[in-house]
Amino acid sequence: MTLVVLVVALLGSACGSTDGEPGSEGLGDSFYPNLGNGGYDVLHYDIDLDIDPEANTIQALTTIISRANQDLSTFNLDLSGLTVAEVQVNGSGAEFSRSGTELVIKPADSLVSGTEFSTSVSYSGSPEPVVDPGVPFSTLGWLHTEGAIYTVSEPSGSMSWFPSNNHPTDKATFEIRITVPAPSTAASNGILVEESSADGCTTTTWRMDDPMAAYLAAVYVGDFERIETKQPGGPLIRDYVPRNSPAEIAEALSVTPQVIGYFEDLLGPYPFDAYGTIVMPHTLGFALENQTLSVHGRDTIDPLVIAHEIAHQWLGNSSTLDDWSETWLHEGFATYLSIMYMAEYHEWDLGEQMDQWHGRLSDTGAVPPMEIENSEMFDVSVYWRGALTLHALRGLAGETVFSDILRTHYERSADGNTNTAEFLAVVTQLAGSEATDLVESWLYDDPMPPM
Ligand code: ARG
Ligand code: ZN
Repeated sequence: MTLVVLVVALLGSACGSTDGEPGSEGLGDSFYPNLGNGGYDVLHYDIDLDIDPEANTIQALTTIISRANQDLSTFNLDLSGLTVAEVQVNGSGAEFSRSGTELVIKPADSLVSGTEFSTSVSYSGSPEPVVDPGVPFSTLGWLHTEGAIYTVSEPSGSMSWFPSNNHPTDKATFEIRITVPAPSTAASNGILVEESSADGCTTTTWRMDDPMAAYLAAVYVGDFERIETKQPGGPLIRDYVPRNSPAEIAEALSVTPQVIGYFEDLLGPYPFDAYGTIVMPHTLGFALENQTLSVHGRDTIDPLVIAHEIAHQWLGNSSTLDDWSETWLHEGFATYLSIMYMAEYHEWDLGEQMDQWHGRLSDTGAVPPMEIENSEMFDVSVYWRGALTLHALRGLAGETVFSDILRTHYERSADGNTNTAEFLAVVTQLAGSEATDLVESWLYDDPMPPM
């Protein structure tokens, strides 16, 4: 009798539920060991935001569909600030607690490995930007300036406005619904599938049906005008510019179809249903490739930056790094590809550009892209020594093999994740070990190799 009781206790209840183990509070990223959470894989986010732009407050409900990959007694989401009112798992109230940016959830019944479950989090407050050691030049996440709300989340900032598995290795589809008072306009990722008005407010629903990393999810609110460009055969192009902007702004954005066409020839079909640029009413000092709707400042809408953010839609957004220490896979590629575009259509001399940057980096010292510290993730050497790496490879391998390498690297990792080892395997396969050694010396050696 005692033995039977003991066995039942060990196996869990007679109904087959197990006690499970807590999911880990991080995924072990080299720079951000606590970002993301273990024990489950997110399939879909449904984010409902009611925004008061004047007060900069939100009233929100995020519902997440996940699949457990272990028996779970508790699991975590990443959320920074805000006040959580209620958490439900599979429709029943769940206990929760907060510790730093970890929201720890204990479902009433533990979750069985392999099963899908839904988690709904009701929360509200004024989203506070995140301070991230990787981006010393900007605060991240939900940003509120005069005239606009926008999100710049790479790498950790999305947890300032929705709870998530905040690591690029867990991509999911998204539906984002935004309610704002008139006359504000709201925009987000993907396709605008529904728009309705009631009680002086407008609700827009946005759908991203392709996998997206949490850091690329975006919300924009302001007085914007939508400009659509129909491009036969290409993705829908919809830009957002501040209402009554000077004509030069729309003019600057008109390179978009040409850039997309150029990268399609180089890499393969554009990965998503739509693309566009949203131009803030103020300067930004940078731009960010939020999936299908990159954010630019008034100061960053030249063709080079536009092409850079478009290149990221393939390399960064569809093919995404699996560890934040390898940002060169995004930035080196986007830098080099955008210069190739400038050389093709804007009379830039690619060789001269590369010589100049090699000179500059030789003078200042260029940290090897694969030996960076957390604070150097977006250092110039990641961008330019990364680009020089590809330039050196192209010089050795020749045009045809270089194109094959780019395309193969992209195809193998599209809609998913990749890393430098996988890229090097493509180089070895298509260009041999001499080329691999060359790429490695550009990525790892100090000092940087000569041109
Ligand atoms: N990936 C961006 C780019 O296109 C980086 C911009 C820096 N800001 C940031 N929050 N990561 O260069
Ligand atoms: Zn970039």
